[in-house]
Amino acid sequence: VTLYVPCDAAALSVGADAVAAAIAAEAEARRLPVQIIRNGSRGMLWLEPLVEVVTNQGRVAYGPVAPDQVAELFDAGFLDGQPHPLGHGLTEEIFYFKHQQRLTFARCGLIDPLSVADYRAHGGFAGLERALTLSPSEIVEEVTQSGLRGRGGAGFPTGIKWNTVLNASAAEKFVCCNADEGDSGTFADRMIIEGDPFLLIEGMTIAALAVGARQGYVYLRSEYPHAVATLREAIRRAYEQDWLGTNIHGSGHDFHLEVRVGAGSYVCGEETAMLESLEGKRGMVRAKPPIPALQGLFGQPTIVNNVLTLTSVPVVLAKGAAFYRDFGAGRSHGTQPFQLAGNIQRGGLVELAFGVSLHDLIYRYGGGTASGRPLRAVQVGGPLGAYVPESMLGLSADYESMAEAGAMLGHGGIVVFDDSVRMARMARFAMDFCAVESCGKCTPCRIGSTRGREVLDKIVAGENVADNMALLDDLCTVMSDGSLCAMGGLTPLPVQSAIRHFPEDFA
Ligand code: NAI
Ligand code: SF4
Repeated sequence: VTLYVPCDAAALSVGADAVAAAIAAEAEARRLPVQIIRNGSRGMLWLEPLVEVVTNQGRVAYGPVAPDQVAELFDAGFLDGQPHPLGHGLTEEIFYFKHQQRLTFARCGLIDPLSVADYRAHGGFAGLERALTLSPSEIVEEVTQSGLRGRGGAGFPTGIKWNTVLNASAAEKFVCCNADEGDSGTFADRMIIEGDPFLLIEGMTIAALAVGARQGYVYLRSEYPHAVATLREAIRRAYEQDWLGTNIHGSGHDFHLEVRVGAGSYVCGEETAMLESLEGKRGMVRAKPPIPALQGLFGQPTIVNNVLTLTSVPVVLAKGAAFYRDFGAGRSHGTQPFQLAGNIQRGGLVELAFGVSLHDLIYRYGGGTASGRPLRAVQVGGPLGAYVPESMLGLSADYESMAEAGAMLGHGGIVVFDDSVRMARMARFAMDFCAVESCGKCTPCRIGSTRGREVLDKIVAGENVADNMALLDDLCTVMSDGSLCAMGGLTPLPVQSAIRHFPEDFA
């Protein structure tokens, strides 16, 4: 019997290793031959550790399994997929999972993350194989036609960025993957790297072919040690099997890939600070222009894309631009891996076409608040994202609709708060976060965030509230208009959205 027990960091944090060991020990004691495969997470985090048993009908799910429940699962016949209170039937029939549109995460949790053979058997490298038959401009055209936009948050058209790099003349070009996933409540980059690392390798190799780069770097945050280990091992195996290196599968193309580990700075997720850090310097933001597409790593034309952008590329090449473009709403094409977190019953990863409502994501998938208390606010797009009140949850989750509503989709993180949240404190947190993480290069952010925190402290303490609110408003305008990068520029977004939607908390 084959079983799957995730080795994803979220599953490990709730005891997946102990569960795998308990299953192995119990099977041995009962002299039952079992094979345990450590897979990525299926994204249903509230069910982790989620054990799946392979049966004739398909994979049957049990979770969350604790080590001391393993013996009773064996007694109940879970190796044959028999019912048990921890059982959820066939994994693919679980509502949360069944209705998703998984393009990027299609294989995550399904396969052994480090098996090239398993990756191939599930359609892996089909995009790269096609790319090897195309010219660079044909690859760029395919990506442009697909409508793919940058999933790091800014939503910039990927094809246009690649075209800029393709047309830049230079002896050397680079592909850099931004895997410095720093937003609170986000984990999609980590999950895909731990669950399907060859997908990122494939996406980056296609990007390299598209612009003529021979060297790539993945900038991965140090807080993700499991992802670092998995990706490094996947890269080693990809070299071993000729998917990386010189003369990839006899094509005459070469591409080399290395992982660089960050040192715990949020602002190194800003692309130019990331490039500085990759060059071995302190992670300070550079002024733009020049844009990295023209002068990036070591001054050379560089593709900088987020993990989710690069991992969307293989499906675009494998199934064609028209297939991908068909998903989504308005100018937001394709799918977005949404990440449900915070005070939510069923936290996890939900990949759906753009255009699903926040309400559906939070209630149909997430099941509402974990506390059972009324939902008051959700923060979408990380710590620099706006707070959205319950009354606006009908909003369509796509780039344009969110922007029109004064919010942003960012990297797709959705953090839920119930009615016990105090919004003035959340506004203070935004300023505090900025004060701690500011790189210090420009004044509005470096000084503004500290002054903002002080003013909010006075407001919370009830000191001259009207005057201090006017001062805060002024300060927010200066930070939005005068900051060099999104760190200082977006910090006013959570502050001002909290004031706009929850004025009673600032009275
Ligand atoms: P941006 O709008 O300045 O640029 C977006 C991308 O397009 C950049 O890579 C830029 O170099 C490129 N670009 C712009 N014009 C171009 C051109 N003409 N040709 C080729 N490339 C061009 O946005 P920025 O500052 O890179 O990112 C801001 C976003 O980052 C925010 O909207 C926020 O959602 C997101 N963010 C994401 C976080 C995460 O953890 N993923 C954390 C914090 C913010
Ligand atoms: Fe640095 Fe903040 Fe200015 Fe960005 S806005 S360059 S993080 S000081």
